[in-house]
Amino acid sequence: MRQHTYPNTGNYMQTKTIFGIDVGGTNTKGAIVDLGKGELISERIKVPTPVPSKPEAVAKVVAELVRQAGYKGKLIGCGFPSIVKDGVCHSAANIDAEWKGVNINKLFSKIIGAKVITTNDADAAGLAEMRYGKGKNVKGNVLLVTIGTGLGTALFTDGILVPNTEFGHCTLHNMIAEHYVSGTARKAENMTWKEFGNRFNEFLEMVNRLTSPNLIILGGGISNFYRQFRKYLTVDTRVKAAKMFNHAGIIGAALYAYEKKAGKL
Ligand code: BGC
Repeated sequence: MRQHTYPNTGNYMQTKTIFGIDVGGTNTKGAIVDLGKGELISERIKVPTPVPSKPEAVAKVVAELVRQAGYKGKLIGCGFPSIVKDGVCHSAANIDAEWKGVNINKLFSKIIGAKVITTNDADAAGLAEMRYGKGKNVKGNVLLVTIGTGLGTALFTDGILVPNTEFGHCTLHNMIAEHYVSGTARKAENMTWKEFGNRFNEFLEMVNRLTSPNLIILGGGISNFYRQFRKYLTVDTRVKAAKMFNHAGIIGAALYAYEKKAGKL
């Protein structure tokens, strides 16, 4: 990978320029984010998440990503695909089981040499969409669903995050919902967009009943293909593809870290 250097980005807190990392079940992505504009200001670097995704191996990849980006700031935000409470991992659906109980903030901060603040990946993406994207100024409940390796959810009420909702682990047809419908399930079962759309609609009907949102936002890799399956969604709530598509996770991770450190979350 090339070494990237970005001039004049030394004082990250003052310029609100923070490195955001999105650890996924399949790939780990990172870029420098301008929080004033809610945009990536460096090339997005994407590397495969190690297999097996043991804590030490993932930590090394994350540190390498930051080094490659040439980021020299003291604060980094990280979205992680599990329940995250006070920086500690509490579930392991699409990452190695050894993660359970690991303090992600401590592990990553130590290896990188900067303060890392972690949150659930879907919550991070949701935060970005609420601040800069399709959820901006939307009152009441808003639900973001990320469709990728897993099925992540982020619930907001009047713009305030209710963390770690994990609706992707509710049961649909006696299955964990993300095993029935997700990016992974679509590929594994070679689903047509019609099959995927119909299954995803069933998931949306369920979360719609649970949360009565005013808006559902779709993020994650498959949101890029929203046009292919939108015609199969009949749920009685507005559904929109995320403005930032799958950049929302990186942008939201940076935003979460900045606001958490500033005591705003
Ligand atoms: C995890 C969630 C995560 C989602 C998307 C699920 O398997 O349980 O924490 O948000 O995948 O990565």
